[in-house]
Amino acid sequence: MIVLKSEDEIKRMAEACRIVAEVLEGIGKDVCSGVMTKELDEYAESYIISKGARPAFKGYRGYPASICTSINEQVVHGIPSSRKLREGDIISIDIGVHYKGFYGDAAVSLPVGSVNTQTKKLLSVTEKALESGMNKSIAGNNLSDISSAIQECVESEGFSVVRSFVGHGIGRALHEEPQIPNFGRPGEGPKLVPGMTLAIEPMVNAGSWEVIVLNDGWTAVTKDKSLSAHFEHTVAITKNGISILTKV
Ligand code: MF3
Ligand code: CO
Repeated sequence: MIVLKSEDEIKRMAEACRIVAEVLEGIGKDVCSGVMTKELDEYAESYIISKGARPAFKGYRGYPASICTSINEQVVHGIPSSRKLREGDIISIDIGVHYKGFYGDAAVSLPVGSVNTQTKKLLSVTEKALESGMNKSIAGNNLSDISSAIQECVESEGFSVVRSFVGHGIGRALHEEPQIPNFGRPGEGPKLVPGMTLAIEPMVNAGSWEVIVLNDGWTAVTKDKSLSAHFEHTVAITKNGISILTKV
């Protein structure tokens, strides 16, 4: 069942999402060569707690940190550690916040210093894929219109979309129905209606779409070791169009 939110509930969700957006904005300034990913985690956790909110991922199914930091061939769910970022790396940072009963969830991928042209393209295409999915997030469309727009955007640039992780509904739970694959044919699945709140999150690989999970039980990496990027926003479908809740 898809849980629809009232306008008032969406306003309250926006407060959780705003904290997510603020952390992502702040953390971007800390991303540089030499920084340990656990330092990014500490920054995020202390900011979230200072706002009276809770880091949503910590303890979720036993996840040990407040954010996910996925470097290079890591797709999602990389665990912050004493690993230091190096010039030329890319890092995906995924953050969830629980505040006043509602969740917000968003992710960005950033270059560490300067990266090569193909890597820049991977980042820009993944961000563009999220935008093309959000552009289809209009009442009256079908859910799979989002999925197919993302897949089309990615594959037309020669990259591939991850199959084994998907976007999701979000609200009073971090993961609600529906699942939102980043691939599919248009015109399928439920109709989008005002009150739906969705976390849209394309994960894009430079090589093949196949992913494996490392022995830590969390870190997903590309099977062919190619680079991977991830962008995510929590959005609400309203009668006046999309509202991107995790944008500052
Ligand atoms: N954005 C991801 C998701 O919605 C992050 C989950 S990480 C976890 O599934 F640690 F909470 F699992
Ligand atoms: Co998510």
